[in-house]
Amino acid sequence: MPEILPSSAPSDSSIRLDLLTWTEVENYLDHCKGIILPIGSIEQHGPTGAIGTDALTAEAVALEVGRRTGVLVTPTQCFGMAQHHLGFPGTMSLQPSTLLAVLHDLLLSLAGHGFEKIFVVNGHGGNIATVKAAFAQVYTSVCGQKLAVAPRFRCKLVNWFMSSEVFRKARELYGDKEGQHATPSEIALTLHLEPSLLSKQHPLSDPAPSGPIYGPEDFRCRYPDGRMGSDPYLASPKHGELFLDKAATSLTKDLSDFLNAL
Ligand code: NI
Repeated sequence: MPEILPSSAPSDSSIRLDLLTWTEVENYLDHCKGIILPIGSIEQHGPTGAIGTDALTAEAVALEVGRRTGVLVTPTQCFGMAQHHLGFPGTMSLQPSTLLAVLHDLLLSLAGHGFEKIFVVNGHGGNIATVKAAFAQVYTSVCGQKLAVAPRFRCKLVNWFMSSEVFRKARELYGDKEGQHATPSEIALTLHLEPSLLSKQHPLSDPAPSGPIYGPEDFRCRYPDGRMGSDPYLASPKHGELFLDKAATSLTKDLSDFLNAL
């Protein structure tokens, strides 16, 4: 059973993979086979939200879970599948097939080193289908290549914004103004993480439309300012602090269950 929940909170320098040496990673693998991989997106988030919202939030939640458990956190896969947002300047997207290939290679790298449990913390709904496809692809490769971890290799996707506690609190604070994109809950978290973003907030004409998602031109026609059903002006840094705690609490339990499961 992996050893998590250390007696004192680890520093970021001991949980961030990018700050470790390879010998430290080798030692880590002696006592824990789990690792957290954050994935976000670089895409428009309405007229007041940061382009990097989904990457910033996924990384923050993943690092907070890492601090609470001592489980390593990889660098964030900040680029995601955001084809439908390409009608707005600043959006940088990977096609589903590209993202699938990137994730497959990253997960296979970790499997080759002996990581057995990969916990993917996602900040963007548009990534979900492709992440799941990448899991199916990497399971095939891990078995096909007869890697030592094959019998025990597992990947799990968690969406911080869909955890029940976050969902409930967003409903309580914002009701149906939470919407589906450029939501006040995710904007609140960015305001907590990056106070300079407060200067971009201003009231917006309400209500933002809701509806389906197709291609980028259609998206821009249906949702002219980029929002879907949301009022991000309701967001505050204090709310963001609360959402970070609720997301980390919920995902810490999910991670613990995942590491302890067969
Ligand atoms: Ni988002």
